[in-house]
Amino acid sequence: MKGSRVSDCRLMELPKIHSLAGNITSINNGQEIPFTIQRVYYLYDVPGGEARGAHAHRVLQQLIVAGSGGFDIILQDGLDKITIHLARPYQGLYVPSGLWRELDNFSSGAICLVMASTLYAEEDYIRSFQDFVQYKEIGQ
Ligand code: TYD
Repeated sequence: MKGSRVSDCRLMELPKIHSLAGNITSINNGQEIPFTIQRVYYLYDVPGGEARGAHAHRVLQQLIVAGSGGFDIILQDGLDKITIHLARPYQGLYVPSGLWRELDNFSSGAICLVMASTLYAEEDYIRSFQDFVQYKEIGQ
């Protein structure tokens, strides 16, 4: 969405079923998050010092969870910039479409679990920050 802002992101507390034998968090379509999940993917084995992302999506919405370990997510809308540290498997960051995102500071063994609203489509990506700023119609 062209008009989305970083303030539209939501750090969501997900349900946690606690027991002495361990915890369960489940995410159900239509219940915890504001979109239907069409795809799940995860980043893992990220080498120390590596950054991921550096793109925006025209349509895709996501819920990002630190399944293990932690990492930073830096979000920009062309005007504002925020950094959110995710490190708890029962918290999910809702990221609407139309935001520039970068992920870095991965801890060793971190797993970045992503629930996505669409199947993979390269044409949905904006991979240049300059194109992103133009897409948002900022500073023209
Ligand atoms: P990309 O989304 O650019 O990774 P990141 O933002 O984490 O740095 O994807 C990297 C490569 O993986 C790119 O060639 C597209 C491919 N890919 C898929 O084929 N399917 C997927 O679901 C994803 C997320 C990526």
